[in-house]
Amino acid sequence: MSKITAAITAVGAYVPEYVLTNEILETMVETNDEWITTRTGIKERRILKDPSKGTSFLGIKAAEDLIAKSGVDPSEIDMVIMATATPDLPVASTAAFVATSIGAVNAFSYDLQAACSSFLYGMSTASAYVASGKYKKVLLIGADKMSSIIDYTDRTTCIIFGDGGGAVLFEPNEEGLGLQDEYLRTDGVGRDFLRIEAGGSLMPASQETVANKKHFVYQDGKTVFKFAVSNMADVSERIMQRNNLTNDDVNWLVAHQANKRIIDATARRMQVEDSKVLMNIQRYGNTTSATLPLLLSDFEKQFKKGDNLIFAAFGGGFTWGSIYLKWAYNA
Ligand code: UT7
Repeated sequence: MSKITAAITAVGAYVPEYVLTNEILETMVETNDEWITTRTGIKERRILKDPSKGTSFLGIKAAEDLIAKSGVDPSEIDMVIMATATPDLPVASTAAFVATSIGAVNAFSYDLQAACSSFLYGMSTASAYVASGKYKKVLLIGADKMSSIIDYTDRTTCIIFGDGGGAVLFEPNEEGLGLQDEYLRTDGVGRDFLRIEAGGSLMPASQETVANKKHFVYQDGKTVFKFAVSNMADVSERIMQRNNLTNDDVNWLVAHQANKRIIDATARRMQVEDSKVLMNIQRYGNTTSATLPLLLSDFEKQFKKGDNLIFAAFGGGFTWGSIYLKWAYNA
């Protein structure tokens, strides 16, 4: 019997309507379009304005898009993994709510949190369940309402992040397509450089934590940038080497959209030409768990069956890694 691999067989996405442009940000904090564009590559991001809606809304919309496009019967989905750093509630699984809302009534589900690497790690998890032979349809959703944890008076973070969601379906493949290899890493030294300090077990919410803005994202951008550039490039180069892939063999680089300069540096180390480097950071900013599936959705029509995709991400923790996947269908 041939070995079962786990392939992506469908993609869906959703971004909210409201567009927060660099020009609007200029009216909110001391910044300018030229600085944001040259330092990050971002021009605009989407924001979920409705205060009654959380990350589950983004995840449900993305999953519904996938279901509508692929025609998959939600009751046949075995499992839903919700990759997110911004769950609806600190306790009560967002995945469970999303699964029930989309009609995945026979699925079990859970949330997976690894900051900006959540979706990448989720790809590893989802594909392992499928490759085990135990489950046949695993829905992986990556969604974040970053605007719920951003301080819009802090110019060092509010220019970067946006809201969005994406979803992919993993199914068994007997042609050898789908996930081929992964190299995933963590280093707890990163905890001081990118975090939300309060609201967890270490520093529960209090009037003082709210007054001191400790429920918002804090980032030492320069330090995170340095770790991101070297580590994302290292793992991507390593996954190419150990799979004997030359730059010609790589069809697409699907990299976490945190900063255009980090993506460019990774592509340079891999010696992959610009036309193979997927980029939509200019339109969405950093949507944390949603960057990779939003890229897949935006560029799906260009992928051919058998194409070699290298995924790479880096995020808080620190967490990072690279995945090599063979695309399984022509859109
Ligand atoms: O996705 C999770 C992982 N996160 C990342 O990968 C993000 C990694 N970090 C970065 O992308 C970059 O470090 C940032 C985009 C966050 C910042 O860019 P930078 O080139 O590292 O800038 P910097 O922090 O070194 O700041 C340079 C200058 C500073 O002024 P002085 O000290 O040189 O006078 C900042 O105060 O730019 C100033 N600055 C700004 N100026 C205009 C910082 N933010 C802004 C701003 N507008 N929004």
